[in-house]
Amino acid sequence: MGRLSGRVALVTGGSRGIGASIARTLAANGAKVAVAARTSGQQPRELSTLADEIGGVAVPADVSRPADVERMVADTNLRLGPVDILINNAGVVWPLGRTVSVDADEWESAVAINLFGAVRCLRAVLPAMLTRGYGRIVNLSSGAADGAGMPSASAYSAGKAALDMVTANVAVELADTGVTINGVRPGTADTGMQEYMRSLPREQVGEEFYERFSLLHREGRLADPALAAQLVLQLICSDANGLTVDVRSEAGRALLGQPTAEGDPVTD
Ligand SMILES: NC(=O)c1ccc[n+]([C@@H]2O[C@H](COP(=O)([O-])OP(=O)(O)OC[C@H]3O[C@@H](n4cnc5c(N)ncnc54)[C@H](OP(=O)(O)O)[C@@H]3O)[C@@H](O)[C@H]2O)c1
Repeated sequence: MGRLSGRVALVTGGSRGIGASIARTLAANGAKVAVAARTSGQQPRELSTLADEIGGVAVPADVSRPADVERMVADTNLRLGPVDILINNAGVVWPLGRTVSVDADEWESAVAINLFGAVRCLRAVLPAMLTRGYGRIVNLSSGAADGAGMPSASAYSAGKAALDMVTANVAVELADTGVTINGVRPGTADTGMQEYMRSLPREQVGEEFYERFSLLHREGRLADPALAAQLVLQLICSDANGLTVDVRSEAGRALLGQPTAEGDPVTD
């Protein structure tokens, strides 16, 4: 019997990277897990392969498409039961480059995935969670949501910053309902998203961030996606509500059972 035994979880962007790590962690703790992604990557079978590996189901969906989100949630309901745990992990870092130069439609598409998609997903599962008096929602945030964000990724920074406010706002709306919402910042994690940025010209990513991310990669110091997955697990197994926690922060380290110390600057 795991800590999440009997629970149904839906992980968006669950085909690889941090989402796949979260899906594995939730399944290892007893949850029945549905994983969603567009399956538009270079390995079109990665979503179903992961679902098979963890004994879950694949529910292909583009979270920026309202009809896909409805179908994804209905499919999960039908095959596993009502969603107890939603992990809004699907995200894209593009378009990278100066705001004045990047394609305006791409800028809007990115916000449609990173922000509107997450909001659509939570609206799709919340009514049933409230009826049952239990639910856990976690939004994947980023260090780019703070301060000056990531200058050559203004759509990403803006979408994640707004998502943090959704977490904070909805948490107040959910007080005393048995449903909670929190955010997790995974650090600069070793995934396809980082690989993608390393493949671009450094001036497109921005000199400062390109150098910082490349250095972490060269020195083998990119964060293990499993850290974010553990933090997600700790939050959904608690009554915490309205927190956005960075894996590198004191609060994050405490939740992860790590010694609290000065972490790397929060910058990704
Ligand atoms: N890696 C980092 O350093 C880092 C740092 C801070 C925050 N984060 C956040 O952590 C989350 C996961 O990032 P990651 O590094 O694991 O990224 P990743 O390796 O690029 O994986 C992204 C996942 O999201 C899916 N996805 C993208 N667009 C989608 C859409 N429209 N609908 C459904 N699924 C979609 C992808 O599958 P398809 O392409 O097949 O749809 C894939 O499964 C993101 O929200 C990201 O912003 C990452």
